Amino acid sequence: MARYASLVVCFLCLCAGAAVCGARELQPMRGVEEPLEVENITYLTFDRSDEATLARLGDSGINGGALQLTPDTHNIESFLVHKSGSVLLARPFKLWRALSDDEIANGTAGAPRVRVVSFNTTFSMNVFHKDAPPGEGLAFVIAPSLDGPPQGSFGGFLGLTNATLQAAGPAANRFVAVEFDTFNQSYDPNDNHVGLDIGSVVSNVTADLADFNITSIASTEESPANYTAWIDYDGAARRIAVYVAAQGRPKPATAVLAAPLDLSEHVPEQAYIGFAASTGANWELNCILDWTLSIEAFPEEKERRWWIALVAAVVSVGVLAVAVAAFFLARLSRARRAEERSQARLGHTLSRLPGMPREFTYESLRKATDNFKERLGEGGYGVVYKGTLPAEADDGRLVAMEVAVKKFIRDDARCVEDFVKEVDIINRLRHKNIVPLIGWCYKKGQLLLVYEYMPNGSLDQHLFPRSLGDQLASPLTWASRYGIAADVASGLHYVHYEYGPMVLHRDIKASNVLLDGATAARLGDFGLARVVESDKTSYMDAGVAGTHGYIAPEYSMGHRASRQTDVFAYGALVLELVTGRRALLRDAGCPLLVDFVWRMHGRGALIGAVDQALGTAEFDADEATRLLLLGLACSSPNPADRPTMPEVLQILSKAAPPPEVPLIKPTFVWPPGGGAQFSLSDIEMTTSSYAGTGDGSSMRATQDTSYDSFRPPTAPNSSQDYFPALSSGR
Ligand SMILES: *[C@@H]1O[C@H](CO)[C@@H](O)[C@H](O)[C@H]1NC(C)=O
Ligand SMILES: *[C@@H]1O[C@H](CO)[C@@H](O)[C@H](O)[C@H]1NC(C)=O
Ligand SMILES: *[C@@H]1O[C@H](CO)[C@@H](O)[C@H](O)[C@H]1NC(C)=O
Ligand SMILES: *[C@@H]1O[C@H](CO)[C@@H](O)[C@H](O)[C@H]1NC(C)=O
Ligand SMILES: *[C@@H]1O[C@H](CO)[C@@H](O)[C@H](O)[C@H]1NC(C)=O
Ligand SMILES: *[C@@H]1O[C@H](CO)[C@@H](O)[C@H](O)[C@H]1NC(C)=O
Ligand SMILES: *[C@@H]1O[C@H](CO)[C@@H](O)[C@H](O)[C@H]1NC(C)=O
Ligand SMILES: *[C@@H]1O[C@H](CO)[C@@H](O)[C@H](O)[C@H]1NC(C)=O
Repeated sequence: MARYASLVVCFLCLCAGAAVCGARELQPMRGVEEPLEVENITYLTFDRSDEATLARLGDSGINGGALQLTPDTHNIESFLVHKSGSVLLARPFKLWRALSDDEIANGTAGAPRVRVVSFNTTFSMNVFHKDAPPGEGLAFVIAPSLDGPPQGSFGGFLGLTNATLQAAGPAANRFVAVEFDTFNQSYDPNDNHVGLDIGSVVSNVTADLADFNITSIASTEESPANYTAWIDYDGAARRIAVYVAAQGRPKPATAVLAAPLDLSEHVPEQAYIGFAASTGANWELNCILDWTLSIEAFPEEKERRWWIALVAAVVSVGVLAVAVAAFFLARLSRARRAEERSQARLGHTLSRLPGMPREFTYESLRKATDNFKERLGEGGYGVVYKGTLPAEADDGRLVAMEVAVKKFIRDDARCVEDFVKEVDIINRLRHKNIVPLIGWCYKKGQLLLVYEYMPNGSLDQHLFPRSLGDQLASPLTWASRYGIAADVASGLHYVHYEYGPMVLHRDIKASNVLLDGATAARLGDFGLARVVESDKTSYMDAGVAGTHGYIAPEYSMGHRASRQTDVFAYGALVLELVTGRRALLRDAGCPLLVDFVWRMHGRGALIGAVDQALGTAEFDADEATRLLLLGLACSSPNPADRPTMPEVLQILSKAAPPPEVPLIKPTFVWPPGGGAQFSLSDIEMTTSSYAGTGDGSSMRATQDTSYDSFRPPTAPNSSQDYFPALSSGR
């Protein structure tokens, strides 16, 4: 009975709402000069929870109470150069609208036909650099989309555009930015100026910042470290003005730069607001410390109030009918209710996501994939199909966009959980080495995810072409192999350290590394990934998830996934890349690739492990040795001996020497603190023999009952002593 009552209350509320809408219609319209409401957005500082409202794109991060538009990792200079990033408010703003004929002020010749909003914004910045000259700069930006900095937008492009787009002209660059430029490019006046950038990094107007050394290091009264900028935009007068002062000082009376600007000519009606920055061969830290934005907001569709009232009334009746129908339908079927609950939970999860991905109908995805015709790959979760979706280009035209559609096989609780986790995690991760998620569909037991299509397929197809019926695919070149190792490392470093909270991928392997059009590698399939709460360093599983050959021994024993277990899988991948062989060799005498490579190392013949498909002249022996040693170090049986991802990146960038690896593979120690020991190969040999096919498909923890076989056959005492974790569950 209570439910009926709440439905009636709901209906009355909707009716009241409709009546209020109708009443407002009685007020006279005041035409084009009517002031708009001002909306205020304020960030006094920034922290990770702001990711609910801010989209972090490219190489940006939120750290130390500031937006780090480009990376802020200290001491590793090679990670700071040639980067670009941006942070935008995740929702769009309507910046202008065309006026109808009645609204255009009559009698006034040449009255504007477009209403443009006004806004004022203030932010403080800290542009830090050391030792070498700074580069390149940061910008306040009004951007056409949340796509983020285009590829190659480092250096002078400030994360706004790139060489291709810049050459294509303003139509390809629907942005407006105010740049604070710290590097003198050929088209710049100097290395310390502010500029108005209209669809180009060649500024329309610039002004010298000689009075404000925004890159200064010292923090004395004369030479402060942090500066505040005010940008006022008057939409009616179509004018922009920029003011700068040392942080803590009042807004100056005169603008350092002022210029005419009609936003309606240069940015789409709906656009995104935030910041972008880049580093080049020189680096700097581009930090935004605080930010306020006051912006006029158009009311919703004022001229149609009667219609709104009518529609509201109709909708409220409709909603009531639907609610009643749903109420009875829900009573009809328990199963249905369960589905609705999980859908509501999913909807709730998804609605909290920043820059929520698109929801697709099942029908549209069936059509897009031509009734699930072309298979791209498959795994334990289901099948991936190729498809084509219509997408809207910046200029509003419809273009075809190639996508990969992942269809989950079942919709049991475990699958739904994997699905929700994957949407939740991958949607937040934005990095050039991670496959971007476009959208999802969850209808009638069908779980589908839509990804950007990666034209060059997965790494295993290139590395092990023999398994695809001896395709004539030319082997991957040495340079691309090295690049792929670096790309995967950079993606993994991102999820381990740069994205907070920490994410463990848990299924790093060749078939989950995808190659985009430029054979840059991206990490895909986050179906097994887990977020680790900030006070923990590992994720406890009831079973073992992952793929044979990539599973670290301490994980198969203790069921505790950690960064080091991902590093172990990364090591197996690196060895595969260099040797062109699978992590599981299917060779009775030596079932594991890592053992084979380690033996070669012991004999001082490491280089002999390099893929025969690469002629001796076609690879760099120093780099190959470096990668093999790195692969071995990551494959060390004992987690503490494996390098961390920051160390891996240093080794790959050659900022650090290759790791020192003992000539004989160390013995696996379990439990980690000491006690009884047995050899890793005892365990792994059992796993590979029970895996049988070694087909490389992933196991989902617990749904695969055979994980029990991971117990070592030779454990000296009762297994109780050795598996304290088994009973504790999740
Ligand atoms: C935003 O701030 C302005 C001035 O501080 C104020 O007049 C206005 O009411 C605020 N708007 C909202 C929605 O709070
Ligand atoms: C201008 O608008 C007023 C009402 O706002 C109307 O009475 C008048 O006829 C209009 N003039 C012309 C020339 O359209
Ligand atoms: C911006 O600031 C000016 C001057 O302080 C003020 O007149 C105007 O109302 C402000 N506009 C907005 C949108 O806050
Ligand atoms: C610039 O960006 C576009 C679109 O993101 C991309 O297609 C193009 O390859 C990029 N150009 C360079 C030089 O990276
Ligand atoms: C900046 O570079 C331009 C062109 O390369 C040059 O003409 C100008 O003198 C430089 N300015 C400064 C301050 O170095
Ligand atoms: C200023 O911007 C306009 C509009 O994009 C462009 O056509 C013009 O060439 C620019 N002027 C300069 C000096 O860059
Ligand atoms: C800015 O830096 C230059 C050189 O580093 C110095 O000569 C100048 O005095 C500084 N100006 C201010 C306002 O600190
Ligand atoms: C500048 O901002 C940083 C925060 O990034 C802060 O630690 C530092 O104290 C500030 N410097 C001054 C002079 O206010």
